Amino acid sequence: MITAILLAAGKGERAGFGENKVLREYDGLPVLAHALSAFAAEEIGEILVACRAEDEPRINAIIRPYPNARTVPGGDTRADSVFFALKETKGETVLIHDAARPFVTRRMIRDCIESTRRYGSGVPALPAVDTTVLAEDGKIVAALPRAQVYTVQTPQGFRTKELLRAYEQSRQNNEIFTDDSGVYAKYVATPKLYEGDAGNRKLTFAEDFSPAERVGFGADTHAFYTENEGAPFIDFITLGGVRIPSEKILKAHSDGDVLVHALMDALLSAAGLRDIGYYFPDTDARYAGADSMELLAETMRRVKDEGFAPKNASISILAETPRLSPYIERMKQNLANALLLPLSAIGIAAGTNEKLGYVGEKKGITVFATVMLRKTDES
Ligand code: CTP
Ligand code: MG
Repeated sequence: MITAILLAAGKGERAGFGENKVLREYDGLPVLAHALSAFAAEEIGEILVACRAEDEPRINAIIRPYPNARTVPGGDTRADSVFFALKETKGETVLIHDAARPFVTRRMIRDCIESTRRYGSGVPALPAVDTTVLAEDGKIVAALPRAQVYTVQTPQGFRTKELLRAYEQSRQNNEIFTDDSGVYAKYVATPKLYEGDAGNRKLTFAEDFSPAERVGFGADTHAFYTENEGAPFIDFITLGGVRIPSEKILKAHSDGDVLVHALMDALLSAAGLRDIGYYFPDTDARYAGADSMELLAETMRRVKDEGFAPKNASISILAETPRLSPYIERMKQNLANALLLPLSAIGIAAGTNEKLGYVGEKKGITVFATVMLRKTDES
């Protein structure tokens, strides 16, 4: 039988939520529930969740759907929590996992079991990507050979008896290890590595809980002047900062760049801000005849202040007239420049509305825009 120990007895002090971070929600579920469901889907006989007494009622509520899961008392340090749980472990094989790592994959759990069966241990590791050094007091004291440096994650698998014996010895010697492979390495054998997963992050700080990406949607419509409305004497409309020859002229307070306006709303919305009418009211004389590309630049500053940068934008134009295809590439170039993105990150599709509705009757143009933002560290 295999036992999984999920460590949930920390306080989550660095996250600063005023409660244990594994009880916080991520993607609509408590952090602990993510790992729990991954382990419960594998051939695991019992799941022991180490927790502090004050969290026990909430943790019991989270584990209720899993009949082979139960709580065990945690300790003051992670090592204590592991030791106490090991003493209650019935499985001859044990997998130890930080509940604060909700992204553990079923592939990792299987590899961990397989490695432990074959070699007596299974420790997930990732090769270092950056140059690695040893430092003291803010100074480099030695360079480490990168090819031999790995970062270590959980779940880590062991033979229960061997790990328990190792913990008993390390406790007698008053040693504090931050992970189980260290205890095992000192008292049992050289731990065997299996391949970790870069996505298997440990949630440590508050910002680790906010999603790294945000999607946004925007739409805008501008009407064409009708024949007896006395359109201004121009022969173009502006879309994506490009002047496009047109018999019909768009009504607008600004330059009427309906595409840029839809995109601005998508950007503002993804960043959790208000809409274009809020920041650039058309009652404000400053925006009369405004160059929408400048308003886009201002929008980008607001998005940046919120700590976001665009990853890509996808735009769909509905227009019966004028013909847009000769101008799409220039629009893409303008938007790529404004959003600081490569051309390949901007998509613009243009189509008619098959003569249906106000677009089909050539009464106006509608544009839909979506953007993806990524979190930057600059907020
Ligand atoms: N853990 C535990 N018992 C402890 C301390 C930690 O079971 N006495 C668990 C945590 O719940 C977490 C994992 O060990 O799932 C990794 O620890 P860490 O990320 O340090 O979590 P916390 O100790 O809760 O956070 P902090 O150090 O910021 O207080
Ligand atoms: Mg801790």
